[in-house]
Amino acid sequence: MCRAAMTKSMVTPLTSRKSDTPLSGTIMVPGDKSISHRALMFGALSIGETIISGLLEGEDVLATAAAMRAMGASIERGSDGLWRVHGTGIGGLHEPEKTLDMGNSGTSTRLLMGLIGAHGIEVRMRGDASLSGRPMNRVIKPLEMMGGRFEASEGGRLPLTIHGTEEALPLEYRLPVASAQVKSAILLAGLNAAGRTTVIEEKPTRDHTENMLRHFGATVDIEDLEDGAQAISVMGHQELQPCAIDVPGDPSSAAFPAVAALLSAGSELMISNIGINERRFGLYETLIEMGADIEVLNKRDQGGEPVADLQIKASKLTGIDVPEARVPSMIDEFPVLAVAASCAKGTTKMSGLAELRVKESDLLLLMAEGLKACGVKLEMGADSLAIHGTGAAPRGLKEGGAPIKTALDHRIAMAFLVLGTATDEPITIDDAAPIATSFPGFTTLMEDIGADIRES
Ligand code: S3P
Repeated sequence: MCRAAMTKSMVTPLTSRKSDTPLSGTIMVPGDKSISHRALMFGALSIGETIISGLLEGEDVLATAAAMRAMGASIERGSDGLWRVHGTGIGGLHEPEKTLDMGNSGTSTRLLMGLIGAHGIEVRMRGDASLSGRPMNRVIKPLEMMGGRFEASEGGRLPLTIHGTEEALPLEYRLPVASAQVKSAILLAGLNAAGRTTVIEEKPTRDHTENMLRHFGATVDIEDLEDGAQAISVMGHQELQPCAIDVPGDPSSAAFPAVAALLSAGSELMISNIGINERRFGLYETLIEMGADIEVLNKRDQGGEPVADLQIKASKLTGIDVPEARVPSMIDEFPVLAVAASCAKGTTKMSGLAELRVKESDLLLLMAEGLKACGVKLEMGADSLAIHGTGAAPRGLKEGGAPIKTALDHRIAMAFLVLGTATDEPITIDDAAPIATSFPGFTTLMEDIGADIRES
């Protein structure tokens, strides 16, 4: 069931307590969310069979699967756990009969707005309360330049109607914000445009769209410009060739057990088969600079994406200044970094965080409020956060204190449950249900490595 349809009775508070023994084990985390969305979309744009293993079966990715089915693709999960996709070909999407429910998923929404904007179909989209508050003008503006028309709710938000165009115009567009979703939306529209579409990005963002387009046999040209930016171009009306995709584990999901292991004395964890794309690896680089004992083992290539196993041992962390240029490569990891910083010795400074205010929640505010409730000393600016750690887990929690507010944000929920594995007093979050958007099985996996996370 999509989150928009959930009733209040499904709200699940969870409590995380420090366990008596260190965390340990060898684990795998679910498939990469960004790669899973794209695998379904590109499979649905190819004629023939694409077979996907390791697909993330979280609510966000299932929203993409449902949307692509509603637009004509056949997408089935076999009893062998493999997903088989038979697509319509580029230009072949059908008009869905009903409104597409995108649930909590910004990636499904923005990427599909690009795809639909360049198909001659009319589509209505809606989402849950969190998604309905997120800005869509960042994709609407370039997609209108390509010929799509959009009727959005106030402030360029969901629900909205897309009037796609059959004759999309190619575009050259410099991204005003570092966003892989905006880049990908334009490139996806470009696949059905008459000519060459180019996106220029000043700060490198995740390049899974580019990597996977090549894996599906498309030509993607990447040029380094004199000013340090990169121009990424696709020609319209190329054919995508169906293929096999093995989705690696999600480094953003692995970050939660990884930080829990770093913070619990004596812990040792192996996380196998994780994507280590350098545009996603900023958190791990930062933790290593803070003194984390993380080893990257068995590096290999998996369908155009670098993959490795991570060995993580409990470590004493020291606060650092996180370079602003690194932000896009760890944009989803700031909640869990903030948790690590709260237990590190000294100050961790993070800046250039404006984008965190328009994620599934105002992440910056929720992180600051939650950490303050745990007794962490910090300063929050418009786009910055400085956390002053003491070198030990925060001790300011009041017994039975107010539950941490998660505001439909899966990452806030998981980050504070991780903090609770290190603090003397338990930490309760008000609702664990959003975790299923990106990390089904999170609680069980944490229990398997020895964490104590239970319903309150
Ligand atoms: C994503 C891009 C990022 C990230 C999101 C997934 C993607 O969003 O936060 O979780 O798959 O392209 P932005 O493009 O808004 O930075």
